[in-house]
Amino acid sequence: MTDVPIIAGSNGLNMPTLGFGTFQLSEQTIRDILPQALELGYRHIDTAQFYDNEAAIGEVLDQSGLDRSSLFITTKVWFDRYEPEELIRSVHESLERLRLEHVDLLLLHWPVFGGRGMNPTLEALMHARAQGLARHIGVSNFNIDQTEQAVNYCGQDELATNQVEYHVYLGQERLRRVLGRHNLVLTAYMPLAKARTINDPVLWEIGSQYGKTSAQVALRWLIEQDRVAAIPATSNIYHARANIDLFKFSLSDEDRGRIAALDKRIRICTPEELAPDWDD
Ligand SMILES: NC(=O)c1ccc[n+]([C@@H]2O[C@H](COP(=O)([O-])OP(=O)(O)OC[C@H]3O[C@@H](n4cnc5c(N)ncnc54)[C@H](OP(=O)(O)O)[C@@H]3O)[C@@H](O)[C@H]2O)c1
Repeated sequence: MTDVPIIAGSNGLNMPTLGFGTFQLSEQTIRDILPQALELGYRHIDTAQFYDNEAAIGEVLDQSGLDRSSLFITTKVWFDRYEPEELIRSVHESLERLRLEHVDLLLLHWPVFGGRGMNPTLEALMHARAQGLARHIGVSNFNIDQTEQAVNYCGQDELATNQVEYHVYLGQERLRRVLGRHNLVLTAYMPLAKARTINDPVLWEIGSQYGKTSAQVALRWLIEQDRVAAIPATSNIYHARANIDLFKFSLSDEDRGRIAALDKRIRICTPEELAPDWDD
C-alpha cells in the first residue's frame, strides 16, 4: 500500500497530494473500483453532487472499515443550490448519501451566481464550515478575479483550494501565482488532460528513463509542484495502480525543461453556460 504525501495548509488542512477523481464513474463502477483503490492507498476521494455517485461512495467507505480520520473526502455544491438555505440543505443531503458527519472539503463547483453575486453563497459556505458540515471550504473553476473577490470576502486562510483544470498542456501561471499569494492549494482536475497525455512522445521518452509511463510522468510533474494536488480518474484497476505509483522517482531539471516547452494553451473543460472568462 502506498502512503501518499500530505499537503499541509491553513486551518489544519491535511490534503493527500494525490486523490481519486470520480467524474463519470457510475455507481456500479464505484462499487467495483473504489474498494481496490482504497486498498492501494488512495484516501483522498473527489466527488460532487453533480456526479450522481455520492451514495455508492458512501456505501464503499462505510464497508471499508477505514478510520474516518484517515480519509479526505471532497464534494461540490451544484450551482442550482447556491441560495444560502438551499446550499445548507444540499450539503446535508450529500452527507446523508456519503454516510458522513462532515466532508473534509466542500467546494462551489462553478462560479455561476445570480444578481446578488457570490457573497451570499460564500457566506453560506462559511456557515456550513462553522456548523461542522465541512472541515475546509473552497471553490472550483474560479478565475483570478473571482478568486481574489472570494478571498477578500471570506478573509485570508478561510479558503483551502481552487480546483481547476491543470496539466502539462495548460500553464495556469498567473492563477498559480495568485493562489500561492493567498496560500491556496491548486487541486488539478483533468490532470491527464483526459488521457491525451498517454501518447505524448516527449512524456514517453522522459518516462522511459525511469521505467514509467507518460501518464505517470504527467502526474509526477504536477505533484512535484508546491501546493498542487492531482485527482486523476480511472475505471481501470491497472491504471489506478499506476497512478499512485509515483513516489519512487523524480523528474530532473532537464525533464522539467522539456515539459515546460510543451504547448501550454490546451483547455479541455469549458462548458459554455458555466465557464467564466478564463485568464489564459
Ligand atoms: N471541478 C470540476 O469542474 C471538475 C471538472 C472535471 C473533472 N473534475 C475532477 O477531476 C477528476 C479527473 O478528471 P477527468 O476524469 O475528467 O480527467 P483525467 O483524470 O485527466 O482523465 C481520465 C481519463 O484518463 C484515463 N486514464 C486514467 N489513468 C490512466 C492511465 N494510467 N493510463 C491511461 N489512461 C488513463 C481514464 O480512462 P480509464 O478509465 O480507461 O483509465 C479516463 O479516460 C474527475 O474525475 C473529477 O473528480 C473536476
